[in-house]
Amino acid sequence: MTLSTHHWIVGPGALGRLIGLRLATSGSLVTLAGRRPLPERQTLITPEGTRLDATLFTTTLANLAGTPDVVHLTTKAYGAEGAHAALAPRLPAGTPLVLWQNGFGCQPRLTARHDGPVLCATTTEGAFVEGDDRVVHAGHGETLIGDLSPSSNAAHGELARTLASALTQAGLPARTVDDIRRRLWQKLAVNAAINPLVARFRILNGDLRAPRYRPLVESLIAEVAAILAAEGIDPPEGQGAPGWQALVWRVIEGTAGNRASMLQDVLAARPTEHEAILGPLLDAADAHGLQAPGLAELAAWLRQRELAGIGNCC
Ligand code: PAF
Repeated sequence: MTLSTHHWIVGPGALGRLIGLRLATSGSLVTLAGRRPLPERQTLITPEGTRLDATLFTTTLANLAGTPDVVHLTTKAYGAEGAHAALAPRLPAGTPLVLWQNGFGCQPRLTARHDGPVLCATTTEGAFVEGDDRVVHAGHGETLIGDLSPSSNAAHGELARTLASALTQAGLPARTVDDIRRRLWQKLAVNAAINPLVARFRILNGDLRAPRYRPLVESLIAEVAAILAAEGIDPPEGQGAPGWQALVWRVIEGTAGNRASMLQDVLAARPTEHEAILGPLLDAADAHGLQAPGLAELAAWLRQRELAGIGNCC
């Protein structure tokens, strides 16, 4: 991947636009595709308050044409497989695909299905959009990239390293990992303990510290921890006190003022990523004969809200 690498970014939400604008302002060619075309002139506000302007090619998924060097799928988790199905027939065989979805649902399925190397990425970068032509990079984070495929090979490793270095040069620090499955589950665990609850009660992350919510959070973390222990997934090391409880409370503290992504979806009457986040946990609980009543109740509420037509419910 060189400076002139052509990146297609499919899914122009906050993350897709952040990646696209960062790559474009560091010299890469970027095409941004979504359901509707966005303005070609886009502005990125950095966490330091600097304004960066860039011109991207913008188009719709239906009108995408050409030969990308790499495709980044940055849709919501529930849109990834549909977007891939629409895209795949138009891609030259062997086109590398990078999956940026939350949770752990579409990644193994698309890794098996895609005709080319597939990498998964997980990031703690924070961003939000302001209108159609502006994205605010709200906070620096880190991106981890790895290969889920059992037939992982040296070429995939090289691709992951090249991509990590392109992102790092573009201002999104990234590194390769050889345990991306574990990393995706770790992020899923934190999301599962925070997102459904704040969406259910329409509160900021930091409100979970109140005595009214604290026991709920603690019991959800305990359910998540038991499931992950059965799956053989440990919490990440080296980030303060060990254990899932400590990790989740650290994230709550660090993001106290955040309106979490699932709450934003609920407030905007959009579908949520509950299937990708809670689904794998509930499936794993079933497989290991574990009870997870708190997670199951939140999943049922989120499902019900969508069945009831989202905006009409709750
Ligand atoms: O989904 C989100 O908003 C974030 O992953 C998290 C960690 C819950 C913080 O808001």
